[in-house]
Amino acid sequence: MKKSLSLLLTLCASLLLASQVHAQKFDELGKTPQMGWNSWNKFGCNINEQLIRETADAMVKTGMKEAGYQYVNIDDCWHGERDALGNPQPNAERFPSGMKALADYVHSKGLKLGIYSDVGDKTCGGHFGSRGHEYQDAKTYADWGIDYVKYDWCNAKGLNPEGAYSTMRDAIKASGRPMLFSMCEWGDNKPWEWAGNISHSWRTTGDIYLCWDCEFGHGSWSSWGVLRILDKQSGLRKYSGPGHWNDMDMLEVGNGLTEAEDRSHFSIWAIMDSPLISGNDLRKMTESARKILTNKDVIAINQDSLGVQALRVMGGGKVEVYVKPLANDEWAVMFLNRADEASRFEFKWADHYINDDLSSRVLEASKTQYTWLDLWSKAKGTTAQNFNQVIPAHDVVIYRLTPKK
Ligand code: GLA
Repeated sequence: MKKSLSLLLTLCASLLLASQVHAQKFDELGKTPQMGWNSWNKFGCNINEQLIRETADAMVKTGMKEAGYQYVNIDDCWHGERDALGNPQPNAERFPSGMKALADYVHSKGLKLGIYSDVGDKTCGGHFGSRGHEYQDAKTYADWGIDYVKYDWCNAKGLNPEGAYSTMRDAIKASGRPMLFSMCEWGDNKPWEWAGNISHSWRTTGDIYLCWDCEFGHGSWSSWGVLRILDKQSGLRKYSGPGHWNDMDMLEVGNGLTEAEDRSHFSIWAIMDSPLISGNDLRKMTESARKILTNKDVIAINQDSLGVQALRVMGGGKVEVYVKPLANDEWAVMFLNRADEASRFEFKWADHYINDDLSSRVLEASKTQYTWLDLWSKAKGTTAQNFNQVIPAHDVVIYRLTPKK
C-alpha cells in the first residue's frame, strides 16, 4: 500500500514537472532594442564568409560598433546540406572555414554573430529549415558560438505559430547559450498577443521595400515602404517593451532612399523602439549614410531605458507628430513631413496637453518648461518659443526635451 502511494506521488511530481518543461527565453537579452547588421536587404543570397568578416571589420572601422551596433547577422542561404546525422552544415564553398571559425573572428572584434533559420522544413530561400531538428539546430548554433537566431515563417504548412516558436525558444534555452531570439512571422498571427515570453522581438509586418511610400506585390504577399510599415504599427505600442520589441524589419538606410528619407526612416525606427538592424553595405557606405546610422543622439532615443514606444499625437495631415516618454522625465518629439513637398508646420507647445496612459506620463509645456535639442541639426532652444519650421519633403525634425531646471 505504502509502495503504491509513493509511486503515485512520484507520478504526480513527474506530471507536474512535465507541465513545466517549457523553458523561458534568455531574459537578460534585449533589454533595449537589439542593434546590428543583417545581410538580406543588400546581399540576398549572395553571401559568403569574406563578406561577413569584412562587415565585422567595417562595423568597427566606421564607428558603428562604437555607436552601439553589436550583432552581425547572416540571413538566408548560408546553408549546405545536413550531414548524415542530420546536423546543419554551412555551404562549404561559401563558408569554407566553417561557422565556428567565423564566430571566433566576429567575437575577436568584440561583436556577436547571428544566424537564420525557419519553422518549416525549408527556409524562404528553399534551404533546409529547422522543423523536426529544432534542438539539434539550436545545440549546433550554440557549439558554433552563435549569439542571435532569426526564425522565419515560410513553409509553415499548418504549424501552430505559438507552438512552433515556443519549441525553438525551448531548444535555444536547452542549448545553454544565451542567443537572442528574433521572430520573423510577419505579424500574420498577431505575435504581439502571445510572444512576449517566447522571443525578444517579433516582426510586425511583411518585408520592407526600398521606397518611401509604396506597396510592392509579389503575388501572394507584398513588401512595404517606410511609411506603410509605420502605419501598420497602429495599436501595437502597448505590446512593446524591454525584452520584447515590435520589429519593423531591417533598415534600408544607405540603400538608395534620399538623404531626407534615410534620416526619417532612421528617426522613425528609433522612436518606435524597433530593433536597429542596418541592411546596407557597411564596407562602402557614403558619409551621409554613416552619419545617419551612427547618430548617437537618435540612437539614445531608441536605447532609452524606459523602453516605451512612441505615441502618435497628431496625424492625418502632411506633418505628423509623435512623442515618446524617456527616462528622467525627458521626452522625444518627432515632426515627420510625409508629403512630397516642403511643408510649414507650427506647433505651439503650451497649447498641448499630452497624456500617455501607457506610461502614465504627461507632457504639458504650459506647466513644465523644457529645453530642446534638435538631434539632427544640434540646434537648441526652449518650449517657450513655438515650433515653426518649413520641413523639407519626406524629412523629419526630432527633438529631445529636458525639463528646465
Ligand atoms: C523572408 C524574411 C526576410 C528574409 C527572407 C530570406 O522574406 O521576412 O527578412 O529573411 O525571408 O529568404
